[in-house]
Parts: sequence; C-alpha cells; structure tokens
Amino acid sequence: MKKGIYTCIIILIFKVCFTGTSLFAQERRPGKLFSPEKIPLLESLRDWQDSKEIMDRLDIRRGDSVADIGAGSGYFTIPLAEKVGSEGLVYAEDIQQEMLDYISRKVEKLKLKNIKIVLGETEDPALPDNSLNCAFVANTYHEVVSPLLLLGNIYKDLKTGGRLVIIDWDPEKKSPFGPPTEVRVPGETVVKEALETGFSFWQSHNFMPYHYFLIFTK
Ligand SMILES: C[S@@+](CC[C@H](N)C(=O)[O-])C[C@H]1O[C@@H](n2cnc3c(N)ncnc32)[C@H](O)[C@@H]1O
Repeated sequence: MKKGIYTCIIILIFKVCFTGTSLFAQERRPGKLFSPEKIPLLESLRDWQDSKEIMDRLDIRRGDSVADIGAGSGYFTIPLAEKVGSEGLVYAEDIQQEMLDYISRKVEKLKLKNIKIVLGETEDPALPDNSLNCAFVANTYHEVVSPLLLLGNIYKDLKTGGRLVIIDWDPEKKSPFGPPTEVRVPGETVVKEALETGFSFWQSHNFMPYHYFLIFTK
C-alpha cells in the first residue's frame, strides 16, 4: 500500500517537474505576461512579421466581425479594422487594462469607429456568442494559462464556419529575440488543442522566419 502511494508521489513530481504541465490537465506553465512597460517593443516595425502580408492571408471581408485576442498595443488591431471597413467590427481584447488604455488612445487619435475595446479574463475573452467571423491570436498563445478553456470560449464566440488564427513563436525556429524556447508552444500542441476543442484544421503558412501561422475553422 505504502509502496503504491510513494510511486504515485514520484510520478506526480516527475510530471510537474519535467513535462511542463500542471496537475490540472488544462493548465501549463506559460511565459510571463508581456509587460505594458514594453509597449514600445510591440510598436516597433516588425520586418519579421509583416502585418500586410498576414492580413492578405486571412480571408477577412468588409463587414466581418473579428476579435484580436491578446491585442497588446493594437499592432494588428488597426490593420484588422482597415480590413473589415466601416461596416465591420474589431474587438480589441486583452486581459491587461494598461494595454487596452494604450489602444483606446490610438483609436481616438485615428478617429476609428469600428473598434470595440474589451477587457477579458484569462479563460474567457467575454465576447458575444456566435458573433465572430474570425478570432485572431498573435504572439499570445504561449502566455495563455488554460488554453483549452480559452479555446472553448473562442469556439463559442465564433459563427459556424468562422476561423481561428494562431500565430506564435515556433520553438523549432531559432530567433535572436522573443520568448525563451522553453515557454514557446510547439505548433503540434496548438493543433492538438484546437482539434480537441472541436475545431477543424484549415491551413498553415510558413513564410515567417520565427513563427508558425495556423488557421482552423468551426
Ligand atoms: C506579446 S503580447 C502580443 C500583442 C499583440 N497580439 C501583438 O502581436 O503585438 C501578448 C498579449 O497577450 C495578452 N494575453 C495573455 N494571455 C491572455 C489571455 N488569456 N487572454 C487575452 N489576452 C492575453 C497579454 O496581456 C499581452 O498583451
């Protein structure tokens, strides 16, 4: 009996220390939340992640509803808003109020009327059900604590046929900057988690030097 208990304890310690997952299967130890103090870094031009090239591959149409989940400084929010046009809507969602305050100032300055700022929760972007044509998650997935719960809520928020786009730092591609390899989430894990949530794999693009670019549909 005692031997069995010791074996269980050893297995649990091994799991926690070496697999990067917590005891609660839905959680993992993610990278640190990106600090609002580093917003200038998010705003600097990314020749390694060209927003125009990304937008061109999203199949977003005028009038669409799109969510920029983990919007940060809004680097992608503004091009998304251009893409959906005045009849469309972009939700700029984040869990850090300082990020949203920064985006609000930007939106005010640019006098954009088709962006709605949303303070979400770690597991729930708090968006209306069945409302989105596209959920766009860039450079954020490796910071997410409960990916399956978040994906489940995004699934609920998408219309049938809506798309989930995940762009994130690929641990297999060496880069001179970006989050440490040990907190990056492999593309295969993202695919597995999205399929587990109920999404279907649709497309991937491989033009970015440091990132994967995966698209799923509901
Ligand atoms: C590295 S920044 C990327 C910002 C932006 N997507 C970009 O590419 O410039 C990651 C952002 O994701 C946000 N974030 C982390 N976990 C999140 C979650 N579970 N839901 C929504 N936002 C989250 C952080 O607050 C941070 O602003």
